[in-house]
Amino acid sequence: MRKAGHLVAAALRLAQSMATVGTKLEDIDRAVEGFFREHNAEPLFKGYPGKVPYPGSTCLSVNEQVVHGLPGPRQLAEGDLLKVDTACRLNGWCADAAITVGIGKISSAKERLCQVAWEVLELAIREIAVQLKKRGSWSDVAAKMQLRAESAGYRMVTQYVGHGIGRAMHEPPQVPNYVDRQTKRSDFRLEPGLVLAVEPMLNMGDSSTKVLRDHWTVVTRDGLSSAHVEHTLGLTEQGVWVLTAGDKEERIVSV
Ligand code: MF3
Ligand code: CO
Repeated sequence: MRKAGHLVAAALRLAQSMATVGTKLEDIDRAVEGFFREHNAEPLFKGYPGKVPYPGSTCLSVNEQVVHGLPGPRQLAEGDLLKVDTACRLNGWCADAAITVGIGKISSAKERLCQVAWEVLELAIREIAVQLKKRGSWSDVAAKMQLRAESAGYRMVTQYVGHGIGRAMHEPPQVPNYVDRQTKRSDFRLEPGLVLAVEPMLNMGDSSTKVLRDHWTVVTRDGLSSAHVEHTLGLTEQGVWVLTAGDKEERIVSV
């Protein structure tokens, strides 16, 4: 899974390097797909089952698009907030990650939203390390993530959650970024051997979302911007491996 993670990280770096004013989303998608195939990896989004099979190898979501934005002829514009999400399988093992990047000069409001999203993910990684040591529960991590997002004035998206990952991209358990009575009932203990894709989605305004008629693109109902970041995290006796940070940037977070 480390090797799959390194590839996903490199694919996201490639996407980020292409993400400038005037770039067409479909060109980023094609480049990422080519990159995975060159490295004998399978792009996991392509053909993913839904009302219509997912057409791309990446999800490229702009501004009010939260997740699952379709790569098309749209060109990136100055001030856009772009979410790039992708996953691959290499030698039978999967990794999944996402970044949020600003295009050219972005508003200070978008800048701060993006920064808080990364902070929430970092806080989750640290808190998983803490809870892992005492065999605590995911809900304690989720509560902290939600608190940080909400203290900063944002809303956590509750319609979509993170997930276990391994041989398949989506495995149990579900990994929500918030806590309520429902999530408490399906809470789980943090133990070595678990690999989780943790992926907070933060909205500038209301938390509610809807799916566009393309059957995929998830947008905020109020039209305000959203940020989404994700890492695949391996829980071990040594601590939390950030598997999608990059081969040079790979780290184990322990307490
Ligand atoms: N990256 C999303 C996730 O983390 C899945 C994308 S949906 C797909 O679960 F259809 F594109 F695969
Ligand atoms: Co994911």
